Amino acid sequence: MSTVGCCVSTSPTISSPPISSAVLQNHSHGWHRMQPRRFLQSAPPRPSRRPEFAFAFDIDGVLVRSSDPLPRAQKALRYLQSQRIPFILLTNGGGKHESERVDDLSKKLEVPLDTSMFVQSHTPFADLDEYKNRTIMVVGGDEDKCRRVAERYGFKTVVTPGDILMAYPDVWPFSQQLLPYYKTFSRPLPAPIDPTSPSTSLKIDAIFVYNDPRDWGLDTQVIKDVLLSHKGIMGTLSHKNGDASRPNKGYQQDGQPPLYFSNPDLLWAAKYHLPRLGQGGFREALEGVWAALTGGSKAGVSLQKIVIGKPHQPTYEFAEKRLLAHRKQLLAQQAANLEPLKRVYMVGDNPESDILGGNSYKSPHGIDWISVLVGTGVHVAGTTPNHIPRMEVGDVWDAVQWAVEREE
Ligand code: G3P
Ligand code: MG
Repeated sequence: MSTVGCCVSTSPTISSPPISSAVLQNHSHGWHRMQPRRFLQSAPPRPSRRPEFAFAFDIDGVLVRSSDPLPRAQKALRYLQSQRIPFILLTNGGGKHESERVDDLSKKLEVPLDTSMFVQSHTPFADLDEYKNRTIMVVGGDEDKCRRVAERYGFKTVVTPGDILMAYPDVWPFSQQLLPYYKTFSRPLPAPIDPTSPSTSLKIDAIFVYNDPRDWGLDTQVIKDVLLSHKGIMGTLSHKNGDASRPNKGYQQDGQPPLYFSNPDLLWAAKYHLPRLGQGGFREALEGVWAALTGGSKAGVSLQKIVIGKPHQPTYEFAEKRLLAHRKQLLAQQAANLEPLKRVYMVGDNPESDILGGNSYKSPHGIDWISVLVGTGVHVAGTTPNHIPRMEVGDVWDAVQWAVEREE
């Protein structure tokens, strides 16, 4: 089955007759949208015992809205488990350790899940061994939950903006009313901020935004301080900043730490009926402040950063590796003559992350990722998304039915 272009999902590949009852609406650009009429209330037909396909499910807007399970999410996952069809959960969310989030979701959906089939936005950070014995700053999430996730990944010295505020309240004058909040989970700094003694002053070797920041003001201030510092030494200012003779006008050219973002989502589907700003919103705000401080693109300055998460290739490669390992484990009994995985149905609600990611991912294993857009989250059914899915359906159960029918 050829891989690219939405046209692939035109009827030649969709065999089973029930589909022809005009549930598919043909759209000018060939992408198919399934009307929310359920053609098979009962379970789809039994797929082969060694399915050459699998699923990757987004979470927010597909399986849950904030903490509330979506109506047919349980049915979809239970059906796949009953048929031993492999699937993983691939989310741009995070903020808790994978084991905690899996426990939460298993309870909410009443479906047994485990970390071998689970990828959060920051999960790939666990592989960044080069920073495990250095001092990192972790930003975002509730209280210092993300610090504790990083520590469980093996990072030994983890500082948060809240720790810095508690030690030096003047670093950000506008969160004083939050000091009691930060007091409950902040920790003493591993070193003082002392610009008079840079060699002993607190030095940050990498900045990781693990989850949606709660205190954009403090986090923006502290990240900006580190990025304008000399070698990440808090309280210092690099003399190279603004030097037009240097690349990026001297900004981030003086041994400053790398800046990682785990999730590019500008918007996400939470409980509120309209999408909410996500980690991408914070990053855009930070980029705005950075441009104002440095002159920005007009001055040839950009904010140098590493952004992972859907739709980015490294996150899909990480997820595909996890899916292949999980599939092998799940279908171990058939290992002897297990066909290679050929197709993954990427079911998501956000065209900017799930669909763009599924469409543009180049699998090193030649696996065809087929993007399926649902209308239970960010995307509003009936509107034309910026990135065209291979199929649009009502909800996650429709997605499973359509895919299994197609595979049949
Ligand atoms: O913060 C989470 C949000 O950006 C989206 O999560 O599960 O829809 O990828 P998800
Ligand atoms: Mg989503």
